Amino acid sequence: MKKTLALASAFLFTLLLFSVFSFKPLNVEEGDKKGAFKYKDFQKPEYCKGCHNDFYQQWDQAMMSKAYTHEWDEIEYFKLAVAHAEADPKLKDVVDGCNGCHTPMAYLVGDVTPPKPSEGSRANESVSCEVCHLITGIEGDTAYNFNWVIEPGQTKYAARKGEKGSPNHKIVKTDLHSSTKICGSCHNEKSPFGVWVKSTQLEWEEGAYADANVTCQECHMPDTKMKTAAMGTTYPDARTHLFNGGHDPGKVRGTIELRIQPDIRETVPGETVVFTTTVFNQKTGHKFPTGSVEDRIVWLHVEAEDEDGNRYHIQVDKKGFEGEEYTIASDVLAYQDMGVPLGIENFEGVRREDVPIGDRIFRMPYFDPEGRMTIMQWNTASLGVDYRIGPRETKTETYTFELPFEIKPGKVKVTADLYYRLLVKPVGEYLEVPEEEYTAQLVNSHSTEITVYP
Ligand code: HEC
Ligand code: HEC
Ligand code: HEC
Ligand code: HEC
Ligand code: HEC
Repeated sequence: MKKTLALASAFLFTLLLFSVFSFKPLNVEEGDKKGAFKYKDFQKPEYCKGCHNDFYQQWDQAMMSKAYTHEWDEIEYFKLAVAHAEADPKLKDVVDGCNGCHTPMAYLVGDVTPPKPSEGSRANESVSCEVCHLITGIEGDTAYNFNWVIEPGQTKYAARKGEKGSPNHKIVKTDLHSSTKICGSCHNEKSPFGVWVKSTQLEWEEGAYADANVTCQECHMPDTKMKTAAMGTTYPDARTHLFNGGHDPGKVRGTIELRIQPDIRETVPGETVVFTTTVFNQKTGHKFPTGSVEDRIVWLHVEAEDEDGNRYHIQVDKKGFEGEEYTIASDVLAYQDMGVPLGIENFEGVRREDVPIGDRIFRMPYFDPEGRMTIMQWNTASLGVDYRIGPRETKTETYTFELPFEIKPGKVKVTADLYYRLLVKPVGEYLEVPEEEYTAQLVNSHSTEITVYP
């Protein structure tokens, strides 16, 4: 009864909107978008929830609904980006542009800098239903820097027309919604220096999943038998709106397969054993890590343990490629450019990473105009070596272990652990980001054994 009433009122409300709204069949070009619309041109997600409750509940648990309000986003945006634009007014447009992807409505209505999340403004709707379902196309061939075209109004755009149609809105089918380009428009980003600081969709395009047409939607909106709307049709292949990624430990766990083996099984103290590790990216359609690569690290830790419980850390063998120093954990300082927005003169930086020294790190460093590592992607003038794990790529590392004389004879267990961190820990701690953003997550683990004779 309650539901019928809610539906009926949603229907009436829609009729009202049809008559009150002036339609804006605007083909807004890039650059014209900021401030081209009003908040009343967009429905709230709670309005769509009336008929699309399942999708609403899924979206509400995804990062999409928190792209503006999530604490680390708020800290980076206000403490670093907005403050940086205040110190250097040339950056104002770039920093307004953060909202083009994180809270597109606020950008489109010119509500920039938006109020802080605690003020409860409509900017908090983040990447809402209306944002994606009012997108009609992409400008140009390459999707990046929110170069979508949007047409607010009563027509919603999706990958199918809807068998029964909707009493509430029109539906127009587009090819874009089943293409990876709609995702790429926000998941590819070029910095003001012309550097690709986010390239998830481009990485996908270069990989094996593109050849097989396994799209972003296949893995992040997996299809299932489901009714897509109250009064709607049950489809065998309805697209869920889960959008789970790096923030879901379940999605990250097991992404990489990991094995370790020794070159000899039996040895004596003082001898050398070489362990080879194999990491195989079996699960991601892009590189791992991807997206906010300036923040993310993946590292491989290898340790031996004798029967007395003594532990010996084994460092990775150097391969000798250019830029390798950025892929082996050390205690050097980095991120000095944060000093500008933080108002600290000659800021010495914080540790580059807080990972056992000598562990292999799978990452790509971003450099500021002075060549120092940065997590401020808008201040990225160049990129370093790309030592991430591509889709279906396998990388091997060797770890040479010189057995100490004090090692206890018997079985020695050698374990390789692969960890993932959303944000390098020293930056998280320094900026007082909630700890869950930099907790080490175990991606995979494998052990092997050797026997040591006296
Ligand atoms: C009064 C109920 C109602 C409301 C409110 C409503 N819709 Fe729908 N919508 C439907 C129905 C019914 C369908 C058709 C489902 C079918 O049979 O395929 C539909 C279909 C859709 C489709 C996809 C077409 C398809 O079936 O594949 C999209 C996208 C969509 N709605 C978006 C929205 C958005 C965004 C909002 C909020 C601005 C919204 N809807 C509000 C009832 C509603
Ligand atoms: C309007 C811009 C926009 C579009 C279009 C968009 N995204 Fe996103 N997406 C974002 C933003 C911004 C975030 C980051 C949220 C955060 O962490 O602040 C995000 C987060 C995600 C995440 C979660 C990552 C994590 O860390 O857990 C996944 C997965 C994702 N998007 C997949 C997709 C897919 C698949 C598509 C295409 C169907 C898509 N996105 C389209 C802006 C967009
Ligand atoms: C990040 C972009 C994005 C957001 C946000 C988003 N959607 Fe979608 N939605 C899509 C895409 C892409 C598809 C089509 C996927 C496909 O079929 O390949 C889709 C499909 C749909 C469908 C049709 C499902 C089907 O299988 O026919 C409905 C209904 C829908 N969305 C409603 C909503 C509602 C309601 C919200 C907000 C709670 C929402 N969407 C938020 C991108 C989005
Ligand atoms: C074959 C499955 C698959 C495909 C295809 C795929 N992804 Fe992913 N994606 C994953 C898995 C698994 C993860 C979790 C591991 C990780 O964080 O990379 C992930 C993670 C992500 C993340 C979070 C990364 C981070 O570190 O925060 C984003 C964003 C994302 N994917 C977007 C996309 C987009 C956009 C596309 C299409 C261009 C896409 N994915 C295609 C499987 C896939
Ligand atoms: C072209 C679209 C786009 C622009 C412009 C953009 N972002 Fe993002 N941002 C994203 C996407 C997509 C993600 C999610 C990537 C992932 O999950 O790895 C993201 C992730 C982030 C994260 C990490 C969130 C997390 O939970 O780890 C922060 C912080 C952030 N952005 C801040 C900013 C700031 C500040 C700006 C402006 C200087 C900005 N972004 C500009 C699309 C964009």
